[in-house]
Amino acid sequence: MSIDLKSLIRTIPDYPKPGIRFRDISTLLTDAAGFTEAIERMVSGAPHDIDLVAGIEARGFLFAGGIAPKLSAGVLMLRKAGKLPGPAMGTDYALEYGADRLEMHEGAVPRGARVLLVDDLIATGGTAIAATKLIEQAGGVCAGASFLIDLPDLGGAARLRDSGLRVQSLIDFE
Ligand code: PRP
Ligand code: ADE
Repeated sequence: MSIDLKSLIRTIPDYPKPGIRFRDISTLLTDAAGFTEAIERMVSGAPHDIDLVAGIEARGFLFAGGIAPKLSAGVLMLRKAGKLPGPAMGTDYALEYGADRLEMHEGAVPRGARVLLVDDLIATGGTAIAATKLIEQAGGVCAGASFLIDLPDLGGAARLRDSGLRVQSLIDFE
């Protein structure tokens, strides 16, 4: 029988700002069977002809690291501003609760490489859309996007799908 992954996610009200219901995946991560099943289900719904799995800092790294070896793909780190040691390219974006910047190393994506974008959660889609822009600017092909959680009321997954991308998520929260 499959595990109820939604029941493993804890909701923290008013974090990090009043009015935000923060969907906390730390309780799923510490459940070995739940985390294993989440990775397996994300892998099975993703395209399989992938060269790189791009994980978005910080929580996206955990899922990218679990998925990539199962697709025989490498991991591409999309990091927050100022964390990468080598020459980097980046883009600014807005969040449900603020603003941020994503960066990747120049030359990290071979021209034409097929990249699967992975994160724990999509809300407004600002982060994911910034990530797809970076991957494409670098010469990669964004072949799909996979999220554990979608907040459909915020419209991010729909925006990504409207841009023609194959998008998968396992759990919806209103
Ligand atoms: C969260 C989440 C996604 C992003 C989704 O990350 O992990 O990356 O917000 O929001 P969006 O669809 O509205 O762009 P956050 O920026 O809080 O960073 P963290 O993983 O470092 O906590
Ligand atoms: N990232 C953006 N919105 C979020 C939320 N409500 N819970 C957890 N992570 C988020």
